[in-house]
Amino acid sequence: MTVHWESWLPVVNTLLIVISGVFLALGVMFIRRRRIQAHRRSMLTATTFAALFLAVYVTRYFLFDPKLFAGEGLVRGLYLAILGSHTVLAMILGPLVLVTLARALRQDFRRHRKLARVTAPMWGYVVVTGWVIYFMLYHLP
Ligand code: HEM
Repeated sequence: MTVHWESWLPVVNTLLIVISGVFLALGVMFIRRRRIQAHRRSMLTATTFAALFLAVYVTRYFLFDPKLFAGEGLVRGLYLAILGSHTVLAMILGPLVLVTLARALRQDFRRHRKLARVTAPMWGYVVVTGWVIYFMLYHLP
């Protein structure tokens, strides 16, 4: 059986980003209920899946040609706007997650909390737009 990695990797990638988003949402829910250990575990899991996503993404980038969006007109404009904002925010998100995590692990929770209020919603936006981009690129008729 031949495995068609070129068509499977985007699915794997999107699954990884969605799983990281689920743990992010769980982590935010846990801290709202003051369940610190559950919050810690969820956020470390979310970060692990985001790192796996990045590894698969970089592998794809070097192995395969990028798939270009086939849509035209208004849909294309919308796609490019989503892709642009997703890419810029994803690049800022990487260091932001690391600093947010480092502050928590150093038990500097006052500053962790301050930055986390930016990191968490930005992470959520990147996850949702990541899924939207996958859908528009591969499943839009
Ligand atoms: C990148 C990973 C993480 C993100 C995005 C994140 C996100 C958040 C968010 C959104 C809050 C609530 C902020 C608010 O009050 O509005 C928070 C609070 C908190 N987080 Fe994290 N967190 C992460 C990792 C961790 C880890 C690893 C720990 C380890 C114990 C931790 C411990 C805490 C604690 C103790 C608070 C409560 C701080 C306070 O209210 O004084 N977080 N975090």
